[in-house]
Amino acid sequence: FESPYPPYDPIDKSGFSYETVVKRWPVIITGIIDRLCRINHDLTLEIQQGPESAHLPNVQAKITESKGIIEQISKLKYHMGRDHPLEPLVDDADPMIKTYNDELVLLAERGKNTWFTTPWLYAECYLYYLLRSLFGRTQHWREFDPFFSQKMDMFKQSRVAILQLAKTMKELETDHDMIQSDPSKLGVLFKEMIQMCLWGNATDLSLLTHLTQSDIEHLQTVGKDAQAARKEFILRDDQEAAWKHLETLRNGRVDFVLDNAGFELFTDFVFADFLVTHTPFVSSVVFHPKLIPWFVSDVTPPDFSVTISSLLDSSFFPRPAADEDVNPSLYSDLFHMVSRWQKYVDDGTFKLSVPLNTPLGASRVDGTESNLADFWTSPYPYWDMESRAPLLWKSLSESGLVIFKGDLNYRKLTGDVKWPAWTPFDEAVGPLAGSFPLLSLRTNKADVAVGVDKEIAQRLDQSDVKWRVNGKYALLSFLPKS
Ligand code: F6P
Ligand code: MG
Repeated sequence: FESPYPPYDPIDKSGFSYETVVKRWPVIITGIIDRLCRINHDLTLEIQQGPESAHLPNVQAKITESKGIIEQISKLKYHMGRDHPLEPLVDDADPMIKTYNDELVLLAERGKNTWFTTPWLYAECYLYYLLRSLFGRTQHWREFDPFFSQKMDMFKQSRVAILQLAKTMKELETDHDMIQSDPSKLGVLFKEMIQMCLWGNATDLSLLTHLTQSDIEHLQTVGKDAQAARKEFILRDDQEAAWKHLETLRNGRVDFVLDNAGFELFTDFVFADFLVTHTPFVSSVVFHPKLIPWFVSDVTPPDFSVTISSLLDSSFFPRPAADEDVNPSLYSDLFHMVSRWQKYVDDGTFKLSVPLNTPLGASRVDGTESNLADFWTSPYPYWDMESRAPLLWKSLSESGLVIFKGDLNYRKLTGDVKWPAWTPFDEAVGPLAGSFPLLSLRTNKADVAVGVDKEIAQRLDQSDVKWRVNGKYALLSFLPKS
């Protein structure tokens, strides 16, 4: 499918793409180098101080490999800053590499293959694939996720909002029978849940290059009042249509195409839990992760498992400060709720789309679509799903509702091209429209936006408000199956 509009790229210096190449990617890349240097420092100490032991040659080999990775990443940063062409990825057994490289050839033919000319969506996917390939080709760093500790640290900092949501879920359980007897109450709760899950996307680690800790805490405030105050920032609001659709399901399946680990994944679990525990409409949920570290904070299979085990571990969160008044019952509410999630994982009510113990980088090796996760880390817009990933498309077309979380999924749904903001959503997703009931929950962190009222979009574009990229506005878009 070809859209009638050109893609966003950094040639336009006023776009977020330009700011990303100039400022955000260098920060993210430097962060990886720093992290590797710190680990190397610790490994060197281990060699110097540790007793003679059999594993030391391995430690030395690990250090040597990481120095190679650091060198390559530094080179990448240099090339990026000087607008060099993107280099072909080294071809190992992964057929996706060929996909990326073929696209690069086409871009070169059009003179659009340098860091400041390549379409943003392609370049960014390429960047994370390249980083992954550097680690994936080593012996000692193959399963290393350079963003893992960052994801966990941020998750720990979300304690206040997490405990608050656990308390809400406990209250819902107490009121379960009363809620069941009144469908209008269920509808009201559904909308609170959907908004909680939407705003859970407001904080992602790749944006942290310009958000402060207090910005983050503010964005994670999940109370009713905070949500009401933010409602006017939802520039496209299909909550009612989504609810009307959900009500037509009986014991249906919902799919979450996940975005970020940590707090956002926590809100996805809460929403999924609400759907299966408190409504008759949904009885199973499938979660779709990324198989490689992706856009810094996206959920990988190890992130998925560790989220539940961490929340069940009473030592995971730092103890509250002495002057902080935290009711201990909140921790038992949390334990109670997450134990239910664990049960749902064990009995198949909650399923990951790939086996739970899938290691990083596990991928098809024979050129066939052997799992349903490769497509998410391809450079393709989702309007190509039926032709590029037919098994995935078929599986999703059997779902009762497919929820796409976050900004990158939205960019891929709309192809990341310059649609006028008032283009109808079903037009912007191209041939994907009607394939399955589709709900996109996205806080705006990139230029593309559709389905917005024309006057509002034009007014905002003329104002100083960076509504397309500052993470404070959102789009909640629903499309039925045809
Ligand atoms: O840098 C590109 C980008 O897609 C931004 O648009 C966004 O800030 C981030 O990466 C990913 O956001 P999300 O985690 O919501 O997909
Ligand atoms: Mg993300």
